[in-house]
Amino acid sequence: MSTRRRVVIVAAAAVVLFLVGAVLSLLQTDQPERFVDIEMHFKYGSIGSDYSMAADEGGVPYWIWRVLPDVFPDILERLTPGQPGTGYERLGFIFEPTVTLDHPRPIGLSFRETAIEAVGVNCAVCHVGTVRDTPGGRAQLVLGMPALRLDFLGYERFLIDAADDSRFNAGTLIDAIKQVNPDFGFFDQMLYRFVVIPRMKSRLDTLRSDFSFIDDLDRHPPWGPGRVDTFTPYKVRFEMGDAAYETAGQADFPAIWNQSIRAGMELHWDGNNLSLDERNLSASIGSGASESSVDLQSIERIKRWIESLPAPKFPADRIDQSLVTAGEPIYNANCALCHSLEGARVGQVEPIATLGTDPSRLDSFDDAIAANMNTLGEGRPWAFSNFRSTDGYANAPLDGIWARAPYLHNGSVPYLSDLLEPAAERPAAFCRGSDLYDYQRVGFVADGAESECTEFWFDTTLVGNGKEGHEYGTNLSADQKRALLEYLKTQ
Ligand code: HEC
Ligand code: HEC
Repeated sequence: MSTRRRVVIVAAAAVVLFLVGAVLSLLQTDQPERFVDIEMHFKYGSIGSDYSMAADEGGVPYWIWRVLPDVFPDILERLTPGQPGTGYERLGFIFEPTVTLDHPRPIGLSFRETAIEAVGVNCAVCHVGTVRDTPGGRAQLVLGMPALRLDFLGYERFLIDAADDSRFNAGTLIDAIKQVNPDFGFFDQMLYRFVVIPRMKSRLDTLRSDFSFIDDLDRHPPWGPGRVDTFTPYKVRFEMGDAAYETAGQADFPAIWNQSIRAGMELHWDGNNLSLDERNLSASIGSGASESSVDLQSIERIKRWIESLPAPKFPADRIDQSLVTAGEPIYNANCALCHSLEGARVGQVEPIATLGTDPSRLDSFDDAIAANMNTLGEGRPWAFSNFRSTDGYANAPLDGIWARAPYLHNGSVPYLSDLLEPAAERPAAFCRGSDLYDYQRVGFVADGAESECTEFWFDTTLVGNGKEGHEYGTNLSADQKRALLEYLKTQ
């Protein structure tokens, strides 16, 4: 072999090695965006749901996510009629004008750099809310509060419907991406055209069939903002057949502050798990992390922080102290047994037979799904074993209860003052999804006729939406109720 030829071969081999090395290192890049500050971590950090290339992962490639509202404004408009704002804001996602991120996104979405940069949802998407004093006024952010404006089903539907549209193709999406990212180079375009876009389309087709229950409107009414069907998607994933479709399980997002006082309590709305760790981890897996991608360290950080995250305080200048003093003994006589930390039954499940609230969410978590939940993580140190079905809903502490409206596990009672009235007198339907606060009735403004409601019309006659039960305190006098309500503001 001539020297020259040998040099060419060696050079070619070096080039090949270099390219293989580059591709390998690209494939191995795996960097979630990290935050030292715990609040930033909670709002924007990764829990491991931001991988996008395997079938069981829930992340969305960042640049696709970024341009979907530009490419499909009509779909977004159809899903969010009358909603303020632009883009994802219309679905109730919260954008913080004061926060600058390299990859702009709302609270509740994390960012990860792998071969494919992607976003995924984290705990904050469902557990950060806002409170507004005046229409058009500034919304105050409350960490750990239910995301009462977030239309999570709308978000899933938006992704699914977009993928089903003929405009979801490489040409259209790449053109839109180049508009917002002039650095989107040849290599990125090839990767998106031949790998990322076709894969995302097929993953969203799978999501559509997994979520086909949402089209079964008689059995699965729309969740509306601030709610999610916690376990039906799990059932579909466990391939539980018809059982997956039988019961509606739409539930309100709960508040997650002060977790340490809840240690050892039977929680989740129906008390289906005593283990704080399993509640936290199952939430991550439900939000799109897979058993292998779930980020245990990140969740540990959040867990430690929510142990002592304080509940927000009701504005002191809007509280009548003498009424509070009058309300305390009324609370102690009628409510403390089940709700105060010293109460004999706090943190225990109250049987549905005596409680009488809507049974749907309870029925949706039966022995079969409990057994399946306990197969998650098999062989891993965190393997689940504590899920079980119960016969009622849990007696939870009422800390920060003013910011947890609408009330009950299904969010069927708009104001705390309504909860103190017999079920028959509570509103049969109301407007839900506003963050404007009513400091008198204690809850978010829910009045007006259906035709005036720009958020979501909540109909308590639909499956799983019932307002019945929990009639404790309903036969107190009007004065006693006023005092009790005042006392509850201080909880
Ligand atoms: C898609 C929305 C969503 C996401 C994302 C989410 N949660 Fe939740 N979370 C819920 C809902 C709904 C419940 C109530 C479940 C039920 O009982 O039906 C809940 C319940 C909880 C509870 C129990 C509260 C109680 O008092 O019973 C904790 C703790 C919790 N979540 C923490 C987390 C953490 C930590 C994360 C992130 C790792 C997270 N959640 C992500 C919606 C969400
Ligand atoms: C026998 C036990 C028991 C008593 C007594 C009781 N509650 Fe409850 N409470 C519950 C249970 C269980 C739930 C959850 C029911 C559900 O979501 O379906 C609940 C839910 C609530 C909620 C809604 C919590 C949320 O996050 O939406 C409020 C508010 C509340 N109770 C206030 C009171 C007040 C005020 C009294 C006294 C007048 C009272 N409760 C008496 C058991 C009790």
